[in-house]
Amino acid sequence: MDYKKYIADKIDIDGVSKDEIYDLIALPPNTEMGDYALPCFKFAKVLRKSPVMIAEELKSTMSDKIPMSDEVISEVSAVNGYLNFKINKNGFVRATMDKILAQKENYGASEEGEGKTICIDYSSINIAKPFHIGHLSTTVLGGALYRIFNYLGYKAVGINHLGDYGTQFGKLISAYKRWGDKETIEKGGIRALNELYVKFHQEAEENPEYDDEARAYFKKIEQGDEECLALFHWFKELTLKDVQKIYDMLDIKFDSYAGESFYSDKMQPIVDELREKELLVESRGAQVVDLEEYGMTPCIILKSDGSSLYATRDMAAAQYRKNTYDFYKCLYVVAYQQNLHFKQFFKVLELMGKDWAKDLVHVAYGMVSLEEGTMSTRKGNVVFLEDVINKCIEKAYKIIDEKNPDLENKEDVAKKVGVGAVIFGALYNNKIKDIVFSYDKVLNFDGETSVYVQYTCARANSVLQKGGIVTDYEIPELTAEEIELVKAIATFPETVATAAEKYEPSCIARFAVDVAQKFNKFYFNCKILSAEDEKSKNFRLALTNATLQSLKNAFALLGIGIPDKM
Ligand code: ARG
Repeated sequence: MDYKKYIADKIDIDGVSKDEIYDLIALPPNTEMGDYALPCFKFAKVLRKSPVMIAEELKSTMSDKIPMSDEVISEVSAVNGYLNFKINKNGFVRATMDKILAQKENYGASEEGEGKTICIDYSSINIAKPFHIGHLSTTVLGGALYRIFNYLGYKAVGINHLGDYGTQFGKLISAYKRWGDKETIEKGGIRALNELYVKFHQEAEENPEYDDEARAYFKKIEQGDEECLALFHWFKELTLKDVQKIYDMLDIKFDSYAGESFYSDKMQPIVDELREKELLVESRGAQVVDLEEYGMTPCIILKSDGSSLYATRDMAAAQYRKNTYDFYKCLYVVAYQQNLHFKQFFKVLELMGKDWAKDLVHVAYGMVSLEEGTMSTRKGNVVFLEDVINKCIEKAYKIIDEKNPDLENKEDVAKKVGVGAVIFGALYNNKIKDIVFSYDKVLNFDGETSVYVQYTCARANSVLQKGGIVTDYEIPELTAEEIELVKAIATFPETVATAAEKYEPSCIARFAVDVAQKFNKFYFNCKILSAEDEKSKNFRLALTNATLQSLKNAFALLGIGIPDKM
């Protein structure tokens, strides 16, 4: 809480800005006088009055505005040209804690987004391709934004814009017919499909005619050939069934799986409109929109053989989403490697005169890699996200088993810790930063990690189990640790709002670590269960309860579970 700002907001002086007042407010040397003071000497010239008189006058107008019930300021006085303020810490502490204890799992929620729909395109996997570590950020960032916006009263629409269109499906059919069999694929899912894909690329290097065959198969899909279409749907079904396991682990949901192929029949109107508006030009046989004026390479709309592109499908998708959801904003949670793609098609939609093009937002994020290095789908050296999550769960189990061998539900706890570590590892830093994922780092009990927060929650839980849930409390003489902790948990509502405004769930992750650190300071320096007196004990139990609630709310938004015991 910025007390200086709170005070400055309540003072009006003609000809003096709030910023100037804010800058002048200082901590008086003698706290007997007050916690903050505004020297009035600088105003003497503008107001043509003595500082003593100014302070007196301000005091009398302030006293009208600040009855004794003000939650923040308890006293205003004028002394020798200074306006002094005493902060009502008790009022602030009570207001914060009562709010949390009353609002519970809604603490931090709001109605700011009421009546507004926000489309969020995230995860957006490619059919028959591995769901790898590179998909982690889009999936958990998108999932967090989905929950955050819903929490703030928006109607979020989660969209998995499936990559289910392109010659790779022709390649897959060709490979399947040559080397595949139903049972292996049925059993192996994405991995088996990926193996076929890799094999195709190896073999096609020696046999370029395979590529022609693949193109022919893709044409057949487009033309609705029954057998090819059935295979395509089967690949799709297998992929979605496989990734659902991961979505379940990460608690990720979608409202729509309309992917690229869904727009096959929705691109023509866009192409027609572009032509009508004279935005299309021919370039080496292709139809493009020239964007030189805007410092970009042309946006290709149709290839020379008349087939559409990724951008064409995205434009049709944007128009479809506008028509269907009438979104307030449409977010695309996609890696920064695609910056140009989004800038291009956003610009083209703007040039077409779509005023809603300004509401399209590319929420770009950085790369995630493992120490092992980057990967390529074609060569097959790829790190499956499922393997990363399972390895994290295993490692978590080992640590927990060592620390607390008698713990019940060790498996369940390990799952929450392991999955949480993967999610938190991707959400803790500013999203645009590249991340090198390290198992040891994300599972460090003493680091800025989810397990540190989870462990802190288990500690708070255990205190509450022994001491009981207290909602009726009085405020004792407050310690510095208590005040710091209350100040931290009080920031949650503005933290959630900022996370939404900046599309930055990391704000919430950082909030959780900050609160956990402050709780631990409080826990080690202020006795809770063996407090000096009943009043302090009750207060500290209530504070523990409020802290735990704020951490639970934060982690729920990130999609991370909290075990009761650890
Ligand atoms: N499937 C794409 C990829 O893996 C991401 C799609 C993102 N969404 C979109 N509307 N372009 O690169």
